Amino acid sequence: MNSLSRLAIVVSLASVFPLSALAADSKGSVEVVHWWTSGGEKAAVDVLKAQVEKDGFTWKDGAVAGGGGSTAMTVLKSRAMAGNPPGVAQIKGPDIQEWGSTGLLSTEALKQVAVDEKWDSLLVKKVSDTVKYDGEYVAVPVNIHRVNWLWINPEVFKKAGIEKAPTTLEEFYAAGDKLKAKGFIALAHGGQPWQDSTVFEDVVLSVMGADGYKKAFVDLDESTLTGEQMVKAFTELKKVATYMDPNRAGRDWNIAAADVINGKAGMQMMGDWAKSEWTAAGKVAGKDYQCVAFPGTEKAFTYNIDSLAVFELKNKDDMAAQQDLAKVALGTDFQKVFSMNKGSIPVRTDMLAEMDKLGFDACAQTAAKDFLADDKTGGLQPSMAHNMATTLAVQGAIFDVVTNYINNPQADPQKAASQLAKAISSAK
Ligand code: GAL
Repeated sequence: MNSLSRLAIVVSLASVFPLSALAADSKGSVEVVHWWTSGGEKAAVDVLKAQVEKDGFTWKDGAVAGGGGSTAMTVLKSRAMAGNPPGVAQIKGPDIQEWGSTGLLSTEALKQVAVDEKWDSLLVKKVSDTVKYDGEYVAVPVNIHRVNWLWINPEVFKKAGIEKAPTTLEEFYAAGDKLKAKGFIALAHGGQPWQDSTVFEDVVLSVMGADGYKKAFVDLDESTLTGEQMVKAFTELKKVATYMDPNRAGRDWNIAAADVINGKAGMQMMGDWAKSEWTAAGKVAGKDYQCVAFPGTEKAFTYNIDSLAVFELKNKDDMAAQQDLAKVALGTDFQKVFSMNKGSIPVRTDMLAEMDKLGFDACAQTAAKDFLADDKTGGLQPSMAHNMATTLAVQGAIFDVVTNYINNPQADPQKAASQLAKAISSAK
């Protein structure tokens, strides 16, 4: 069964168990389901909570732990099924369209806010299209994350005798060998499916370029999925995996980030929410740590846009709380403070153009510059591992193949490529 029909079942069940009206607080309340629970992420979401509360509304925190959000998505589906969805939930990419088609998202709540705040002119079309359903905003985008980063501890590099950040896969392996030889973890990593696939998509991008990446993960083109280049990507993935922390099983991404921050590991492949951990630890970009595009992906930008979707509510006060949250979320003050804490960049184009003036660090300035440049060249591509490129069903099929492959050193790259194509075709 594809995810659309699964969501259709959610809707029919939701009509059997009608929305339970939440008791209204004085000025309305909003429950927000999200998965921002690491130290750095929490600091970021607390900015939104504080502003909504300052505006007189009640914030009900619906945090569900688990990086990448798959647990949060499971919780959200079961709540929707029980007729008790929250007012707002973090939903991203094509999944927004699926939720939209269930009729559970509100096409009314954000109408006026979007006009008053001129959202259409503030956002790149690719972004506004993602958060609209049937031509109406059903979600507010809050930031832009870049996924294809490599995080480096320069002190550790120095101790291992590595002179510069790698720019090719060969240099990456050479750095990894030196780190291992000195007893460091070369590549900090958490063995969870979404983290494995974050690494996989970086490697695919490096080997196949933005064009090949798009054919594989956006177009789901069968000949690309089974082609020679994909086999090469799996071959490189196997090599990358030899540098991963051997004790990675089940490890959370922020614990892996802490290994690099604390000088136990040299590198981590992770989106720039990893920067939130460096920031929370009081470290400075360009000085205490380095952010570079994963080798071979300098001309590309895999984007991951966090967005908060609004569910249909009956209570007018609670709708007012949703509207307040949405207005705050795209306001300049919030966009700046939130992204500085979260490691992302603002989603407002007017802000992207003046990142240095706004006081953003070197990593964020590079990200903004590359986002705008790569949008013009085709280098800007949606992240598969972070729900931006495909449906959750297809993503889940890819996750399974990749994680099994990484955990089996005997696995054959050629077979993996054909398994990938098969798994995707049955999940479509
Ligand atoms: C991503 C999400 C980020 C960050 C990360 C780790 O999918 O977009 O905001 O939270 O997961 O949990």
